[in-house]
Amino acid sequence: MRTHFLFAYPLFLTAIAGVHASPAARSDTGAITPLTSSQIDAFEPYTWYASTGYCNSSATLAWDCGADCDANPSFKPVASGGDGDGTQYWFVGYDPVLDTVIVSHQGTDPEEILPLLTDADIVVVELDSDLFPGISSDIQVAQGFSDAQEKTATDVLAAVQTTMSMYSTSQVTMVGHSLGAAISLLDAVYLPLQIPDASFTYIGYGLPRVGNQEFANYVDASAVSVTHINNKEDPIPICPGMFLGYVHPSGEVHIEDSGEWANCPGQDNPSTQCIVGDVPEIWDGDLSDHDGPYGGVEMGC
Ligand SMILES: *[C@@H]1O[C@H](CO)[C@@H](O)[C@H](O)[C@H]1NC(C)=O
Repeated sequence: MRTHFLFAYPLFLTAIAGVHASPAARSDTGAITPLTSSQIDAFEPYTWYASTGYCNSSATLAWDCGADCDANPSFKPVASGGDGDGTQYWFVGYDPVLDTVIVSHQGTDPEEILPLLTDADIVVVELDSDLFPGISSDIQVAQGFSDAQEKTATDVLAAVQTTMSMYSTSQVTMVGHSLGAAISLLDAVYLPLQIPDASFTYIGYGLPRVGNQEFANYVDASAVSVTHINNKEDPIPICPGMFLGYVHPSGEVHIEDSGEWANCPGQDNPSTQCIVGDVPEIWDGDLSDHDGPYGGVEMGC
């Protein structure tokens, strides 16, 4: 069910040496407000779709994967792929209730991903100029995430275009948990460049930091609606560290110990109601919070 994912790449420390986080961009810290229960409930189908990303590609294509698939019974699968080994599973299809294309990518086991994200040698790279035409070379992301997204990018693009035309919709929602959240966040930069006339929503769970300050600013300035939900004291979302130049885009929602879901404005909001303040260091975290539950949904197939 969970798979091994290795960042087995040459390391170039110089690539991160020039990166620095701008504290100015993090000063946008308006009021932290609780979500209403209907706002929380509205995430539920997307949370199930993120969890379903862990199911194998034949199960998602047949939409026969037990509780995950049953939670969104009217979903119309269109394409799926990955092998759950070198390439994370993914699926694309249409939700007629929400009237949106759904794109979901598989995550990975927290014990697998944490050591990779805390490796001080984690390296950033520019995005591929063929997949991301016109993107600034100042925008840099973790190489492991970039490589994982590139493996499925063109297949996912073709599936999204097919689904949009089959079901006459221009809405696309990208979801994922953990590594899957990181891959989907890169899709949230990639797909709008390839399909400029669609409208895009991103909902990630337990998202690690994906890129540098310029990446976070690009995501914030884009038209994509971004939400990334962090559960309690999950340490994955505080990795890789800000000291390495990694910055989250805005859009954090933090599930607190009280069960309240807090809207945390700005990038890496330092409040103790948000993940950065609640989990200052990895050893303050609890890895068992990574898989959930997110509003009752435990991630996994
Ligand atoms: C895929 O998942 C389904 C349902 O969860 C399972 O029955 C099947 O054995 C799996 N197939 C492979 C190839 O792992």
